[in-house]
Amino acid sequence: MTDLLSIDDLGAEGIAEVLRLTDSFVEVTNRPIPRVAALRGKTVVSLFFEDSTRTRLSFEAAAKRLGADVMTFSAGSSSLKKGESIRDTIQTIEAMGVDALVVRHASAGVPAQIARWASSVVINGGDGWHEHPTQALLDCYTIQQRLGSLEGRRVAIVGDVKHSRVARSDVKAFAALGADVTLVAPPTLLPPTLVGWPVGVEADLDQVVEKVDVLYLLRMQRERMTEALVPSLREYTARFGLTSERAARAEDAGAIVMHPGPMNRGVEIAAEVADRPNVVVVDQVRNGVPVRMAVLFLLLGSRRDLLDGPAGGVVGEVPEEAEADVRG
Ligand code: NCD
Repeated sequence: MTDLLSIDDLGAEGIAEVLRLTDSFVEVTNRPIPRVAALRGKTVVSLFFEDSTRTRLSFEAAAKRLGADVMTFSAGSSSLKKGESIRDTIQTIEAMGVDALVVRHASAGVPAQIARWASSVVINGGDGWHEHPTQALLDCYTIQQRLGSLEGRRVAIVGDVKHSRVARSDVKAFAALGADVTLVAPPTLLPPTLVGWPVGVEADLDQVVEKVDVLYLLRMQRERMTEALVPSLREYTARFGLTSERAARAEDAGAIVMHPGPMNRGVEIAAEVADRPNVVVVDQVRNGVPVRMAVLFLLLGSRRDLLDGPAGGVVGEVPEEAEADVRG
């Protein structure tokens, strides 16, 4: 694998490899100095053409904790505003000497297009409605951490599936690891066709809240809607929102609740529900850093030879140099 554009680039084995490697990087992130030298000398650029809080900061933290240099590009304050094309922008950035580009764009396919132009590694940080592979990886890691494994687990993905790149990557990743996935949404918020999607569909959230291990809520992505797809937000919340009453039923049945963020409290999730102990949103964010360390290491790791050894050995060996580095 030279780029990570879609969950398809990894498949079940690749996902499992990232998750195994993540354990080692969780150990690193828990150290007093959470830094290793594995990517010393490498430069990672975050190239965000669309807003982000979690994904950009998480990739930048991951790259720094691996000892890489980080450069940040924000479309809003760049020469794109003066009419420079994306292709020329990429050429300009690459001329400075970079090893990886983490790309987010509002249009599907832009990271793949950039991968054709660029000689650096390209990682998709979310493209339009298409995919968000590292979100799916951190979601798999979080489920595995809480429930042991995804095999045979029942996962409901609830809400605006139509506009969600997270849902598209999650469905592929969860199904690849053996989960049984159901989409819960009004027909207007489902994709026009579900041919090839390994999922069931249910229109009534009340039928699933007590039957699943994971309730995965999606944000109502109003910025991507060009027409009124729900009669009103109040009605959406009444039918598909995680109200206190539904949350209590799900919690009693042992389900965890997930959300990729940013949450709209009061729309897809009741304000007071978001802070309940079975809501693992903060774990998802926390796990995002070591998961992205694993992805960067796999794609850029100059110590690939160490990957064949036990996972603990991978970072067990590299960090000592790093600690000397940091202290001395
Ligand atoms: C999501 C995104 O931007 O794709 N957030 C994220 O990266 N964690 C989901 C969303 O915008 O609803």
